[in-house]
Amino acid sequence: MTNLTLTSTLPAADVVTLFAGQTKTGAVELLSSIGTTSVVTKIQTAISGFDFKAGVGDLVKLPGNLAGITGNVVVVGVGKSQSHDDFRNATGVVARSAAGKRKMAVMVPVDHADAAGAIAEGALLGAYTFNEFRGVSNLANRQSVKAIVLVSDAAKDAVLVQAVQRAKIVTAAVNQARDLANTPPNALPPTQVAAFAKEIATTHKLAIEVLDEKALKRKGYGGITGVGQGSANPPRLIRLAYRNPKATQHLAIVGKGITFDTGGISLKPHLGMHEMKADMSGAAAVLNAIAAIAALKLPINVTAYAACAENMPGGNAQRPGDVVTAYGGRTVEVLNTDAEGRLVLMDALVRAQEDAPDLVIDVATLTGAAVVALGRKIAAVMSPEDSLSNHVVDAGRRSGERYWPLPLPTDYRAKLDSSVADIANIADSYGGTLYGGLFLQDFIEPKQSWIHLDIAAPAFNSEGPTDYTPKGATGSAVRTLVTIAEDIAVGLLKLT
Ligand code: BES
Ligand code: MN
Ligand code: ZN
Repeated sequence: MTNLTLTSTLPAADVVTLFAGQTKTGAVELLSSIGTTSVVTKIQTAISGFDFKAGVGDLVKLPGNLAGITGNVVVVGVGKSQSHDDFRNATGVVARSAAGKRKMAVMVPVDHADAAGAIAEGALLGAYTFNEFRGVSNLANRQSVKAIVLVSDAAKDAVLVQAVQRAKIVTAAVNQARDLANTPPNALPPTQVAAFAKEIATTHKLAIEVLDEKALKRKGYGGITGVGQGSANPPRLIRLAYRNPKATQHLAIVGKGITFDTGGISLKPHLGMHEMKADMSGAAAVLNAIAAIAALKLPINVTAYAACAENMPGGNAQRPGDVVTAYGGRTVEVLNTDAEGRLVLMDALVRAQEDAPDLVIDVATLTGAAVVALGRKIAAVMSPEDSLSNHVVDAGRRSGERYWPLPLPTDYRAKLDSSVADIANIADSYGGTLYGGLFLQDFIEPKQSWIHLDIAAPAFNSEGPTDYTPKGATGSAVRTLVTIAEDIAVGLLKLT
């Protein structure tokens, strides 16, 4: 793990990062200050020898010990608008390129001290690597840069210190969520997710309750039981509770935790199936979001649920045509065993509402159709209350995550009617994301405020790394959940 500190003087480092932007006329302008004017002039002359336009994330590596600076000078672009997002992305690129190094210094521009939090986030998210399952001989230049030092004249400023502290807590949660979703499915059955949740509970002094397969069956959690019964690895329903004495609001966050999704008897094609190890990204998000919320000591009550099961075909697997009974008594006809996320979530959503939260947010890699609708990087947000969907889009934007609203058309609900049970788990092949949301809505009480996040697309990056996003698991939704909790705590998001 990378250690990040904030200081006012430049230490000896292997890499020294400077930011450069574009002026209105498109000229390259060095934003970070370093040393005397002659040092700056030397650096500017050196950059001008490259085809460098200072676009966001554009990078120039200058030769070692330039102008008397210890280590390599790296100049990274933040473009014209120089938003916090631009700084987050640019720093991510540099942190990624510093893999294998011991120490990287980042010179925070005086005029952009307010971006220090975003810079710290980009640094710690970009530095992430996942080497748990590599042999030592394979680690060369693959390990995260060991230390990052943010250098700022305002290093003692309380606002800056707090922003950087927040960034450390939140990115640790994101990276932990990435670790969980990157972990191979043989190493992370539902019992191991529960073991991880116990660690979080111990670290942050949270109340924890884990229902095992026997308790789930006895208490009538037919959705989780049915999905999990084809696997030798039994299911778990995990509940973590964070309580703050100053809280006036209660947020419930519910995550889909399918530790591997083969589709079950409605077996998926083999191509890309290994990526279904990340089908517990929703669970990883809520468990780590509550950890961050607790570490930040936010004045809000939060309860997190992770509905964990492995969806496997097998002699005892549920069949298409089976009817299962959800927690609370509603019956569901399982027409497709690959629409399993909604089956584990319905149980957890019903349970979550027993705690009488002011808002329920569920997070799930629920539908491939969400990838079709919005592409690889944007998650779908759905809520019967437009104001809530819009708030998520905005909270996501402030956090560096992208969401776009999709509807819950009430007239479509009829397509989920079952000929034998209260509801079927699939409907039309068109608009698959909407039916996922409509199915879940059936398990939400009419007066309950509720948001559904379908993170099927952004949870896993199948392509190469970009900005601060590595290949593989991205830790999607953690940052937005924390921001929403903050918004509720300070009254920016008012719940009725
Ligand atoms: N976990 C998948 C959805 C998914 C697909 C997530 C691609 C990430 C990337 C989910 O359980 C699933 O299989 N959904 C089905 C639903 C269908 C049977 C109604 C799907 O999307 O095909
Ligand atoms: Mn599935
Ligand atoms: Zn799934």
